[in-house]
Amino acid sequence: MRKTFYITTAIDYPSSEPHLGHAYEKLCADVLARWHRLLGDDVFFLTGTDEHGQKILKAAKRNGLKPQEFVDKKAEKFKELCKKWNISNDRFIRTTEPGHVKVAQEIFKKIFDRGEIYLGKYSGYYCTECETFYLEKDLDNGKCPVHGKPCEILSEESYFFKMSKYKEKILEYIKENQLSIWPKGKKEEIKNRLESELRDLSVSRSSFDWGVPVPINKHHVQYVWMDALLNYISGVDYPNEKFEKYWPADVHLIGKDILWHHTVIWWSILLSAGIPLPKTVLVHGFINTASGEKMSKSKGTVINPLKLAEKYNVDSVRYFLMREIPFGEDGFFSEQALKKRNNDELANELGNLVNRTLSMLERFNGGKIPSARTEPALTEKLNLKKIKKHMRAFEFHLALSEIMGFVKACNAFVNEREPWKKQGKELDGILYSLADSLRVIATLLWPFMPASSEKMLEQLGCWKQGLGECEFNLLKAGTQTKKAGILFEKIEAEERKTIKTSMH
Ligand code: MSP
Repeated sequence: MRKTFYITTAIDYPSSEPHLGHAYEKLCADVLARWHRLLGDDVFFLTGTDEHGQKILKAAKRNGLKPQEFVDKKAEKFKELCKKWNISNDRFIRTTEPGHVKVAQEIFKKIFDRGEIYLGKYSGYYCTECETFYLEKDLDNGKCPVHGKPCEILSEESYFFKMSKYKEKILEYIKENQLSIWPKGKKEEIKNRLESELRDLSVSRSSFDWGVPVPINKHHVQYVWMDALLNYISGVDYPNEKFEKYWPADVHLIGKDILWHHTVIWWSILLSAGIPLPKTVLVHGFINTASGEKMSKSKGTVINPLKLAEKYNVDSVRYFLMREIPFGEDGFFSEQALKKRNNDELANELGNLVNRTLSMLERFNGGKIPSARTEPALTEKLNLKKIKKHMRAFEFHLALSEIMGFVKACNAFVNEREPWKKQGKELDGILYSLADSLRVIATLLWPFMPASSEKMLEQLGCWKQGLGECEFNLLKAGTQTKKAGILFEKIEAEERKTIKTSMH
């Protein structure tokens, strides 16, 4: 039986166009999903859109559309993002799908039947931007601590979930390391906040109707997080076979602003419903503007990932983000920095290695892989163990640095050995070593740059193999290679015009 690996991203609010932060999160999850596929795991990768709630309702009204029409239109943009960025999700879930609504209601009812949901009245602060209730003490000068916008004061009848009951249990789980929150600093953050207090959670709204109807009272809709979080189980067809196979999730990948929701709120819901808890909550950093500020629509600094993928080779953008930003830290995108990495590392090093290897194979051996073995001078330059260690520690930028170090070593090998001056067995050895090393490089780069990796493998006349077989000498002698096309175009200086989002 193959090991399963179930990975999810947060589901995005389709209240406006996707931005680079959404793309970055899907990219990080895609890298992990593909890496696990290379390791031979049975992977399920879920992403999607969070389509109910007041924020969406307001956005639909602003656009003069019914909420369902509005989300139908916007969800397409998020699907297009997945396609253009080559995200290998196995399913795209939308919370307005009847299957999801059914599960969300089922869980609400289950918790109600256990006596852990009661009717009351909510009076307090609410930020519609993050769809979150706040206590006065958590506000920042009366404003939402995440969005910096004034909070609404709500006063309405609401159902409450006895979340406070789970405080000690969750604290115990966190302290005993039974539940993993990565990076470690984030774990401390949650522990401290949880230790200070945990109140019951308002889990329904009665002042508007765009949401999952509360199964026991048709005048209420479920609080949007009490709906959205359940996508992680409805997305694998809870409670059926697929759920049995993949649950508990191995990784919930999220941004730092929604950690509380994915630990305390989500775990309490699961504990109450008697469902096992997920294994790891993995928190990535934020993509900010080059000056370190949050991307902002009003300032026009939001980067549109769909346009980015039209303007540049999407693999260059994928590579740039994963190589440039240490995972878990905040970072920024600039076209100047993208250009530098694309030109120096992808065009000059990797593209050049592919080009010269295939050209020499063509020139000296009619495009056929010779019969030989890869020289230790090259094999010893690749530290596969180290790459695996970095991937396990989510140090994607270091794994890439190690792989690209091997690319450099291959280029240096060509310069030192001067194959154009050699012939016979020696020439065969050099050509085989280079082609076989390229196969290994293409395989290791597949999670990061899948299209370029597949192109490289196709040019070498072979196909991606699992990581267990990523060792050398697997390229078959006599294989016909294809003449190289340009893998990575250089980005010219005048291409530095900044890409911004068109508002709607
Ligand atoms: N709908 C909720 C999540 C529900 S999950 C059950 C939500 N949506 S969101 O559209 O606001 O954010 C989706 C994801 O994008 C979150 O993980 C969030 O942290 C992430 N990001 C939002 N802005 C970001 C950046 N600027 N950079 C990186 N990720 C960012 O929250």
